Amino acid sequence: MCVDSLLANNRSWAETVSREQPDLFPTLAQQQNPKYLWIGCSDSRVPANEIVGLLPGELFVHRNVANLVKHVDFNCQSVVQYAVDVLGVEHIIVCGHYGCGGVKVAMGHDNAGISDYWLRSVKDICVRYREELNKCANDDERLARMCEINVVEQVSNLANSKIVQAAWKRNQELHIHGWIYSIEDGILNDLQVSRDANNPGDDIYMPELQ
Ligand code: CO
Repeated sequence: MCVDSLLANNRSWAETVSREQPDLFPTLAQQQNPKYLWIGCSDSRVPANEIVGLLPGELFVHRNVANLVKHVDFNCQSVVQYAVDVLGVEHIIVCGHYGCGGVKVAMGHDNAGISDYWLRSVKDICVRYREELNKCANDDERLARMCEINVVEQVSNLANSKIVQAAWKRNQELHIHGWIYSIEDGILNDLQVSRDANNPGDDIYMPELQ
């Protein structure tokens, strides 16, 4: 497919949307009011809006390799701050996926170039969960479990972040969820590790409000 066809696709998409929902673009041009922030993997097989059936304007999105939430990643943290403090999203979904190439690289010894630095924190998670991972029957199962564990850990990072902790401290409605997507059947599953103001975690992460 040549790249010009993407522009042609866009024209036809915009025409269809304008015909079916004439108010959508004029409304969105004025403001965005999404209720959800999605933090997912960059993987082309996990298109955020599409798999949860949301329109433009309904989902604020941040994606990176292996859906990581790092406290020193000003890209991710800036997205979280804008979503929480300015847009006032009520839910943040950290979504991983089975068969994640980033997680797979982190579990092995291949030289992946600069990604090795990015994925280094996933290696640390592998080490911490070594005992559980070793109980998996084979490599496929181990990768699948590690993709789940990675989401659980990123939910924890996000819940312990200054932005989220401050939101909970001022009683802002904010729920964090950990989901995983199967690229084999398109199904999302809730990993049941949701967090909110009622279980903020260790007090050490709670900042004074400014
Ligand atoms: Co991935």
